Amino acid sequence: MGLATLTATAAGCRRHDGRPDGPHVTLRLADIPDGGRLAVQVDDQPIELLRTGRTLEARLLLCTHMGCPVAWVAAERRYHCPCHGGRFDDRGRVVEGSPTRALDRAPVFLDDDRVTVYKAKVVKPSTAAFHQGAVCDGDSRRLG
Ligand code: FES
Repeated sequence: MGLATLTATAAGCRRHDGRPDGPHVTLRLADIPDGGRLAVQVDDQPIELLRTGRTLEARLLLCTHMGCPVAWVAAERRYHCPCHGGRFDDRGRVVEGSPTRALDRAPVFLDDDRVTVYKAKVVKPSTAAFHQGAVCDGDSRRLG
């Protein structure tokens, strides 16, 4: 899996057209293998794009326990967190360890053959500095 570093931009909360307004990257649909995955960096977040035809999912590759980067282990079809042994299945659901919720998702949009993925908005009270600045009132998820 390659890690593409693409241009990220801007700040704010939500654009008038209903899309998030903030750091994002844009790439071509053809850059993501059909049936495969591609990791991109959106601001300070590693995000994985998963594609099936023209269906896309964007998954934040940071553990929901304390924010360590997770790695996909294809042989096990699991994401591994190196910090405290957290494991997530191929849909991002917790299967083992300290995390209590699934990997977060990021907003992703497909326009013709152009994919735009935005920085995920995450609030994690136990680590207040974590993703500080990515919080938009009324738009963020409060996580216990
Ligand atoms: S940060 Fe991943 S299990 Fe603790």
